[in-house]
Amino acid sequence: MAHYMGFIIGLSFLALSSLCFSAKTFDGRIGYLYPQFYDHSCPNAKEIVYFVVAKAVAIEPRMAASLLRLHFHDCFVQGCDASILLDSSGTIVSEKRSNPNRNSARGFEVVDEIKAALEKECPHTVSCADILALAARDSTVLTGGPSWEVPLGRRDSRGASLSGSNNNIPAPNNTFQTILTKFKLQGLNIVDLVALSGSHTIGNARCTSFRQRLYNQSGNGQPDYTLDQSYAALLRTNCPRSGGDQNLFFLDFVSPIKFDNSYFKSLLAYKGLLNSDQVLFTKNAVSRELVKKYAYNQELFFNQFAESMIKMGNISPLTGYRGEIRETCRKVNAY
Ligand code: HEM
Ligand SMILES: *[C@@H]1O[C@H](CO)[C@@H](O)[C@H](O)[C@H]1NC(C)=O
Ligand SMILES: *[C@@H]1O[C@H](CO)[C@@H](O)[C@H](O)[C@H]1NC(C)=O
Repeated sequence: MAHYMGFIIGLSFLALSSLCFSAKTFDGRIGYLYPQFYDHSCPNAKEIVYFVVAKAVAIEPRMAASLLRLHFHDCFVQGCDASILLDSSGTIVSEKRSNPNRNSARGFEVVDEIKAALEKECPHTVSCADILALAARDSTVLTGGPSWEVPLGRRDSRGASLSGSNNNIPAPNNTFQTILTKFKLQGLNIVDLVALSGSHTIGNARCTSFRQRLYNQSGNGQPDYTLDQSYAALLRTNCPRSGGDQNLFFLDFVSPIKFDNSYFKSLLAYKGLLNSDQVLFTKNAVSRELVKKYAYNQELFFNQFAESMIKMGNISPLTGYRGEIRETCRKVNAY
């Protein structure tokens, strides 16, 4: 009996000490994000972000797409550190001027509103980089997509990289290989590429982002024949050879404000809007099979999307004492 008690006491001691040990390493580990990061310092942080995003998306459904894209364009440039949110000033040249972002990236006012609400609730606590990660998840959920727990604890950069923004973010007329290479440079693979491209199930693109396909795909005066030709004819009516650069088109014309798998179904029908969309089906056997899989099974797409979003959100975060918690997402702190 005494033997037995000793065993129990020993066991519970072991359990307790390992608990303390893991709690310590949990908080102290550099480069490690976890969903409970603000549970004590700002317990309402997640609800506040959701509330402001929901309000913005109710006013304008496209805002969900714009916020989702901001997180992507942030993470591919020096990691998920809110560098994309900095305006130009002093030595900082804003990433907002880059080719992928200029006249295109949007949602900054909504981020400002989220940040203002968070500063009021718990000053100097929640990073702008975490706001982007949470807003991307909330935007996905609000448009009917999957949910996931967002690992948190990112800190904000004290600089931006215009060249990084120009070079790291794939362009719509990049080849399949170039796009895959740019994903691999961020530690993402072909599965992540196909799943995350499924973001194009919501949101818009400008005429200038796909015009080449309609008139002169390979510099030979011919359209892109991997684009359904009656769909191409329809697109040409509002995307002329010259002019109308900023005219807007749905990336997923079937259900433009619903997060679903119709984007992948359209790729099977050669009705992807961007060249970078269609090549996922036409240029590589592995990605082609993935496109088919997600077109046939929305749940598979949703599960992989959530997993890949967490992976993307983990790209080189600033943690511990690196970086800062900006007071205003548009500028670095004064000190
Ligand atoms: C795979 C390479 C990718 C390329 C080449 C690409 C390119 C583009 C382009 C050209 C646009 C339209 C921009 C405009 O004309 O203003 C766009 C929009 C969008 N992209 Fe991507 N993208 C890629 C991957 C991603 C990923 C990984 C995400 C998110 C995880 C994403 C989310 C979005 C969203 C939501 C929009 C619509 C934004 C809005 O309506 O404001 N894209 N993308
Ligand atoms: C892609 O588009 C950009 C901007 O319109 C253009 O400068 C570039 O030449 C294009 N690249 C290819 C490979 O067509
Ligand atoms: C197509 O593009 C090529 C290369 O940019 C150019 O030389 C040619 O004039 C264009 N053709 C047409 C019909 O626009």
